[in-house]
Amino acid sequence: MALTRVMGRRLETSFLTDVELNEIGFLSIGKNVLVSRKASFYGMSRISLGDHVRIDDFCVLSAGMGGIEVGSFVHIAVYSSIQGEGKITLEDFVGISSRVSIYSSNDDYTGEFMSNATVASQYSRVTHADVRICRLVLIGSGSILLPGITIGIGAAIGALSLVTENCDEFYIYKGNPAKKLIRRSKNLLKMEKDLLESLKFPF
Ligand SMILES: CC(C)(COP(=O)(O)OP(=O)(O)OC[C@H]1O[C@@H](n2cnc3c(N)ncnc32)[C@H](O)[C@@H]1OP(=O)(O)O)[C@@H](O)C(=O)NCCC(=O)NCCS
Repeated sequence: MALTRVMGRRLETSFLTDVELNEIGFLSIGKNVLVSRKASFYGMSRISLGDHVRIDDFCVLSAGMGGIEVGSFVHIAVYSSIQGEGKITLEDFVGISSRVSIYSSNDDYTGEFMSNATVASQYSRVTHADVRICRLVLIGSGSILLPGITIGIGAAIGALSLVTENCDEFYIYKGNPAKKLIRRSKNLLKMEKDLLESLKFPF
């Protein structure tokens, strides 16, 4: 356990201290970042974290050459993993529920090639594609996002969805494969504006 600051109060938590966070070697790190000491990071020099970010226990962020860019006010909940060679971007106010898997690399499943990370590259065919999760997106628990997808601003993904294609902004998607369900309210935009305004004039 360590002493850290949560909403201005000093608390005993399992989050890394600021000194420990700086020692990890992230590309960049913002203010008020809470990272569990039980989370794991690979390719840290290609991972950037914005302000007000929280990464919970047993999350794994493994950055390939494309890197992982996490915006501000982003929460990555327990047991989630974010990995692959392509660039993965999580914009501001993105919520990743527990046990979400986000991939920017994929093995070939046809049987024409061998697979898995222990096999030399001349026997396998791994493809890479960037993933972008735009601002105000919420990803439900247990969902899987495949390489190459973009999830538009304000979209939400239901629990246990398999996202194989781009998702339009301000729609709710769900299922395997994920399909459009209904529109999502744009009131979020007003809330976002109010929240950001309140930070300009803190009481
Ligand atoms: C997708 C979701 C937002 C839809 O909520 P909703 O609008 O209240 O939808 P309903 O419960 O009325 O369900 C509508 C239909 O979709 C189905 N459905 C709902 N969620 C589903 C899901 N995740 N996957 C597949 N089908 C789903 C329902 O069975 C129902 O089907 P029907 O029309 O055949 O009866 C919600 O079910 C969900 O998955 N939320 C994510 C919760 C979560 O992960 N929380 C973690 C902490 S943030």
